[in-house]
Amino acid sequence: MYDIIKIREDFPIFRNKNLVYLDNASTTQKPTEVIKKINCFYERINSNVHRGNYDIAETATFEYENSRNEIAKFLNCSSNEVIFTKGTTESINLVANSLSDFLFQKGDEIIISEMEHHSNIIPWQLLSEKRKITIKYIPMSSQGTLEIEKLPKMISEKTKLISITHMSNLLGIINPIEDIISIAKKNNILTLIDAAQSISHLKVDVKKLNCDFLVFSGHKILGPTGVGILFGKNELLNKMPPFLGGGHMIKEVSMEKSTWGDAPFKFEAGTPNIAPAIGLGEAIKYFKSFHNKNSYKYLNELTHYLLEKLIQIPNITLYPSVEFQKNKGPIIAFDIKGIHPFDLAKLLSTKGICIRSGHHCTQPLLKKFNIKSLNRISLYYYNTKEEIDFFYKSILKVIKVLN
Ligand code: ALA
Repeated sequence: MYDIIKIREDFPIFRNKNLVYLDNASTTQKPTEVIKKINCFYERINSNVHRGNYDIAETATFEYENSRNEIAKFLNCSSNEVIFTKGTTESINLVANSLSDFLFQKGDEIIISEMEHHSNIIPWQLLSEKRKITIKYIPMSSQGTLEIEKLPKMISEKTKLISITHMSNLLGIINPIEDIISIAKKNNILTLIDAAQSISHLKVDVKKLNCDFLVFSGHKILGPTGVGILFGKNELLNKMPPFLGGGHMIKEVSMEKSTWGDAPFKFEAGTPNIAPAIGLGEAIKYFKSFHNKNSYKYLNELTHYLLEKLIQIPNITLYPSVEFQKNKGPIIAFDIKGIHPFDLAKLLSTKGICIRSGHHCTQPLLKKFNIKSLNRISLYYYNTKEEIDFFYKSILKVIKVLN
């Protein structure tokens, strides 16, 4: 059985009984274990890592590396394939910048999709301007799915990389990344998977997936903001040049020339975001302590319950439409005819309800649907039916006020 009462008790923010937090694709709440771990770092062992040899510095280094090991186990890779970054965005920028001269030549091609978050578009656009390479987009159908049958024809001998989201941050649609990776491998193309949304909801086993890179943000899986992960295959990371230069990423520095340390340190120049990195390891441990078939089933049923409520709302349009809201993550995007998404979210917030409105950093996706802005509800393992009932009653009242 899934003990939702106990789970909610683990999150101090829910002591506020008026809060109905339904914006989990933006960021997740933090359990006591994670908050305690971060406080404990600052209260007891605050010091830099990989530098001092006094006791607290060695303990801090141990905790930092222990967190890396925990994340490596979670992803099923080795610890030296796990790089701490600031988040998904920085991880993708790191890959784009490091691969820039190493992999790409003028005229080369990258394939992404029309469904991507801006963080998986802009770094490639910046690179495309700098290196004169072309970006191709896998089209998205009106059902919100990628037309991957078109992928083989989009590939040429100039295609060097395919970078794709595992789960849409706006629609919750899950992409067939196994098929995409397999097509890429057959054509000797590198793959990057944006797992920012899927990391909490789908099995992410990088060995099994056989992707070259995979990225996610700690704060979307109960961890702190300011820390994220780049997984990269060791043989690639060893060949790639660093993105940022500075302290700790070197083997030797002279006034004329310097040499780089091994991965992952080569990619972690300067003092890292130590406390959040340690907090992320704790978040993953906590996540594993409750996440199993029951929690998965619970959240699936809750998403279904939300969908049933949403379709009863007058003048609602779901994206994609209701018949395509199957086998998805716990994210639902919608619009109410005649009501601006901003106004709806703002009025719901007067009742303690938090949902996101706007373009959700997916302007190309919205353009496909010919819209500029949407509302989005995204659930997590601590949400309840009571919250959805309250949301439903509240939205009906808010619609009356706004109409
Ligand atoms: N990527 C986050 C979202 O989709 C911020 O809301």
